[in-house]
Amino acid sequence: MKLSTEPYWQYLLRDVLELYQSGSAGGSAKIRSHMAEVRRLLGKVIDDDPAVQEEEGEELPVCVHLDRALSNAVGYRTARLARSIEGVREHLHWKYGYEKVPRGLTRKYGYAEILGPTGPVVSDRIILGLVLFGPKTTYPGHSHKGLTESYVCISGHTSENDVGVYAPGSLILNPPGHYHRITTADREPCLLAYAWTGARESLVHQKMTFSRK
Ligand SMILES: [Fe+2]
Repeated sequence: MKLSTEPYWQYLLRDVLELYQSGSAGGSAKIRSHMAEVRRLLGKVIDDDPAVQEEEGEELPVCVHLDRALSNAVGYRTARLARSIEGVREHLHWKYGYEKVPRGLTRKYGYAEILGPTGPVVSDRIILGLVLFGPKTTYPGHSHKGLTESYVCISGHTSENDVGVYAPGSLILNPPGHYHRITTADREPCLLAYAWTGARESLVHQKMTFSRK
């Protein structure tokens, strides 16, 4: 299957692109240039008309929060993306990424890839995915070697390194090697989209495994 014949995957990618187009960089030159880079790469991916490997999805315990997380996006500028996630939901493959899942995360965390070297939309230009957290979750500190990461909050509220609270539509930039630890609000789940950019080499070899500090 090709992206051009799979409207829901197209909608999903275009809705992510739209958030990187219309969102404010808050006056940060670094964030502005990362957003431009994501737009450039995602535009190329769409032009490439890459393969879509649509497999049967797989859920994790945290997926009990997905309905709530998606409906909590209503009224925010991330609502369209939340709706397009619904369109591919049955094909999302939720994973832990850790060989040994940290205690406390088994029911409260999972990520699903959207675009990357291993699919579902196959490209080695950029990696896009979703991270879902249950309420009151602490995601242990980690950093990503050779990759620039951004999180866009789709729904819920999150804090990173105890220095700010991010609401739906907010973007957080984590430069390569930047150590970050995430917490989520007490009563509601939190759904983030992430984008990873970097050398193709780093993208191909990157896994959701973390170099702890
Ligand atoms: Fe991260």
